[in-house]
Amino acid sequence: MTHINLEPQGETVAVPVHSRIPVDTGQVLVQARGLQKSFYHRSILKNVDFDMHRGDITVIIGKSGSGKSTLLRAIAGLTDPDAGEISIDGKTVFEGTTRTKDWAEASANVGMIFQTYTLWPHMNVLDNLTLAPRKTRGIAASEAKDRAESALDEVGMKQHILSRPTQLSGGERQRVAIARALMMKPKLLLCDEITSALDPPVAAEVLDVLRRLKEEDGIAVALVTHDMAFASKAADRLVFFHNGEIAVNATPEEAFDNCDNPDLKKFVDAVRF
Ligand SMILES: Nc1ncnc2c1ncn2[C@@H]1O[C@H](COP(=O)(O)OP(=O)(O)OP(=O)(O)O)[C@@H](O)[C@H]1O
Ligand SMILES: [Mg+2]
Repeated sequence: MTHINLEPQGETVAVPVHSRIPVDTGQVLVQARGLQKSFYHRSILKNVDFDMHRGDITVIIGKSGSGKSTLLRAIAGLTDPDAGEISIDGKTVFEGTTRTKDWAEASANVGMIFQTYTLWPHMNVLDNLTLAPRKTRGIAASEAKDRAESALDEVGMKQHILSRPTQLSGGERQRVAIARALMMKPKLLLCDEITSALDPPVAAEVLDVLRRLKEEDGIAVALVTHDMAFASKAADRLVFFHNGEIAVNATPEEAFDNCDNPDLKKFVDAVRF
């Protein structure tokens, strides 16, 4: 909150002012400032500042309905905020209420993966991966196939290139979903509860894939989960979302062992039991 002198009335009123995002972002890949979003007059994102760094896994936890998916969708460009600013890789992609001229190019850097498997059941893995790049981005069939092979290689699924999704396990399908997101060579991956339907060992395999991507390719990952054990294992940064605001942003050790935020304590106790 900054106090601004409004001339000519000479009154001093308190208005929220969000620092503009600097152009030179260094290791910061995503910066969101002052994001607000309401649905039917219910404020879901109240005033959210959120950063993602290259090569970091940022885990987002919080009650059901607290706005975690809405935040990821806003960064992915699937939902426009009502106010605020988002920059990706040093370019402002959203400002106030509108997408900027850099939006389309910068949003190609963003891959999003959801909890439910969004693969087409009647198509094999290769076609699932190449369909959108060929149809919507005009990538040639041979280039798309090369990208698919290399993306499947990255997630350890190349041998399944001709399988149908129905022939794969849940963990394998999620690895294919990650490979599909990698087709456009994203700089950030937004993962919304992608391990929720998986057994812990299978979830750990998916986490290994994400770790490799962040370490080898410097991809920034945001991961929403309700699994606290998984969160503490996965996170470089842990963000606790509460009542439409980021209540805690810390390392997992600080958040889980040394945090005196009563809402986080209550949430963790309720989820753990
Ligand atoms: N398109 C929409 N139209 C109307 N309301 C919406 C829409 N998207 C989200 N909401 C509402 O906004 C609130 C926050 O939703 P969101 O999906 O972001 O929560 P969440 O934290 O991801 O919850 P969960 O952990 O259950 O996935 C919810 O009450 C939801 O009903
Ligand atoms: Mg959600």
